[in-house]
Amino acid sequence: MKRRDFLTTTLALAAAGLGPRSARATNGLVEVLLDEPIGTIAPELQGHFTEHIGEVIYNGVWVGEDSKIPNLGGIRKVLVDRMRQLRAPVIRWPGGCFADSYNWRDGVGPRAQRPVRTNFWDNTTQLCKAPVGPQKYDPNTFGTAEFMRFCQLCGAQPYLAANVRSLSPRDFDAWVEYCNSPAGSTTLAGTRASDGSRDPYNVLYWGIGNESWGCGGDFRPEEYAVEFRRFTSWVPEYGLKLRLIGSGPGASANDPQVSWTRGFLENLVGKDPRVLDRLYGLSMHYYCWTTGKGDSLEYSVDEWYQMLSQADVMDSLVIQHWLAMGDYDRERKVKLLVDEWGAWHRTPILGPAYLFSYIPSLRDALVTAITLDTFNRHAEKLAMCNDAQLVNNINTLFLAVEDRFVATPIFHVFDMYKSHQGGRSLRLVCDAPQIAFTASNDAQPAPGGAGKALWGLAGSASLQGKKLVLTLVNPHVTEARVTDVSLRGGEAKSGQVTVLSAPDIHAHNDFDHPDVVVPKVGPASISGPRFSWAFPPASVTKLEIDLV
Ligand code: AHR
Repeated sequence: MKRRDFLTTTLALAAAGLGPRSARATNGLVEVLLDEPIGTIAPELQGHFTEHIGEVIYNGVWVGEDSKIPNLGGIRKVLVDRMRQLRAPVIRWPGGCFADSYNWRDGVGPRAQRPVRTNFWDNTTQLCKAPVGPQKYDPNTFGTAEFMRFCQLCGAQPYLAANVRSLSPRDFDAWVEYCNSPAGSTTLAGTRASDGSRDPYNVLYWGIGNESWGCGGDFRPEEYAVEFRRFTSWVPEYGLKLRLIGSGPGASANDPQVSWTRGFLENLVGKDPRVLDRLYGLSMHYYCWTTGKGDSLEYSVDEWYQMLSQADVMDSLVIQHWLAMGDYDRERKVKLLVDEWGAWHRTPILGPAYLFSYIPSLRDALVTAITLDTFNRHAEKLAMCNDAQLVNNINTLFLAVEDRFVATPIFHVFDMYKSHQGGRSLRLVCDAPQIAFTASNDAQPAPGGAGKALWGLAGSASLQGKKLVLTLVNPHVTEARVTDVSLRGGEAKSGQVTVLSAPDIHAHNDFDHPDVVVPKVGPASISGPRFSWAFPPASVTKLEIDLV
C-alpha cells in the first residue's frame, strides 16, 4: 500500500468505527502506565521566542499601524489569531544574542523620537549585504510596550532577557521598574503610562543575559556566577516573586557542556547556597542539525534519520544537566529551561534581510514532535521551553513576507500538542524495531560513530481528568507500526485521532501551497484496556482517549 493510501485508509477505518487494526503482524508495543505520573506539563513547555534578528520582529511580528496588512496597532493580526489558537503560554524577547546589545531605553517613549541603532546581527555575512532597513539599523519602533501588547493580544506571558554584557545591574533594575512599578509611583511608571499602560505589566520571567559563555559576554562560568549574583541582588520586586533565570549551557550533541552548568552552580552556591532562592531556573540551548547543516528541503533518507536522531539527543541532555544541577541544589529548588531549541539548516533565504530563515518540512515537524514529547517526559524537571523562533527564523512556526503568511508543519505540531498543556505526564513505554541508518561523522556527529540506529516509535502521554492524550512519532519513512497499545490501570471508552504526515518526506507548506502538510482528524474506534493501532510511516499521531 502506498503511504498516502495507508494514511487515508487508517483514517477511513477509524471513521468507520472499525479501528485501524490491519492484517499486518504487530511490530510495535505501547504501554501507558496510568498509575505512574511524572509531573504536570507546564503550558510554558510550549513557549516561543522572538528576537530582533532578520525578519522576525520587523515584517514578522510588526508591520506598522499604517500597513495595508491587517494589524492590531501595528502587530500582524493573523499571527495573533494563530497564537491564540495555540494557547501560546509565553514569549521570550528581545533575544538571543541581540539581548546583550540592547538598551531597553531605546525602545520606550514616543516612537518617532526613538533612536536608530545598528542591529547586533548587522555584521553577519548575509545581513551586511542586505539593503538598509530595520533588520540592519533598528528604528526601535518595536520596544517594550509593543512587545507587551503583542503578548497581551496573544494571551501569553512575557519573558524578557536582560543585557548583562553591555549594561549594568542598575539598568536592569530600571527596566524592572519601568515594567512593574505601580501606577503613578515612579518616573518610569509615568513613561510606561505615556507609552500606553498605566497599570504595571507585572513581568515575572527575567533572563539574566543570554549565552553568557559566548555572545552574551564571553564569560567563564565562575565569572558569570559573579555577574548573576550582582544582577540579582536586591532587584526591585513590587510584591512579586520574580522568576530570575540563569544563562546556561549551549549544548551540542557531541559536547553537552555540563562543565558550564557545574562551573556556574559551584561558584554560585560557593559563596552562599541561599542564592538558589533567587535562581528560578537555568536555561539550556540546543539546536540540532545534520552534518555540515544541510538543506531544509533536499535531504536523503539517511539525513532524515540523522536529523531526527539529533533531535532525540535532547533527552540525554535534559537528564545530564538535571543530574549535574542536583549536585548543587539538593532540595531541587531550581528548574531547567530550554529557552532556545530547534532544527537549524543551511540558509536558502526568502529575501536578503531574512537571517537563518528557510522553509521547514515534514522532517522539522517530526523534530518538533520528538522534542515536545521529550519535554513532556521530563515534565517534573522543566519549567519552560522556547522554540527558536516564532516567525521567519530557524524552527519557525510561520513564514511571512509582506502580506503573505503561511503556517508551517511545525505550527501544526504545536497545535496538536496543546492538548498536553496542564496535563499530568504519565510514564509511557514504547517498543518497536530500531531503524539503522548511516551518518557521516564530522560537524555534529551523533554519539556512536557513523553507523547509527534510531528507535522505531516514541512519544508521550498525559492525563487530565478522564481525558488521556497520547502523542507518538513513527520515524520510519516507509513502514507503518502496527502496535499493541495497553492502558495499564484504565480502559478506553472512545477516542479521536489526529495524524500529521504526507506522502513525500520532503513535503512542506509555502505561500502558494499552504495545506500540503496539515493534520487530518477523525474518530478513533478504540475501547477497552488494550487495542491495536497502526501508526503511519513518517508521521506524528495524537490519540485523544476518553477513559471509562
Ligand atoms: O536563535 C538564533 C541565535 O542562536 C540566538 O540569538 C542565540 O542565542 C543562539 O546562538
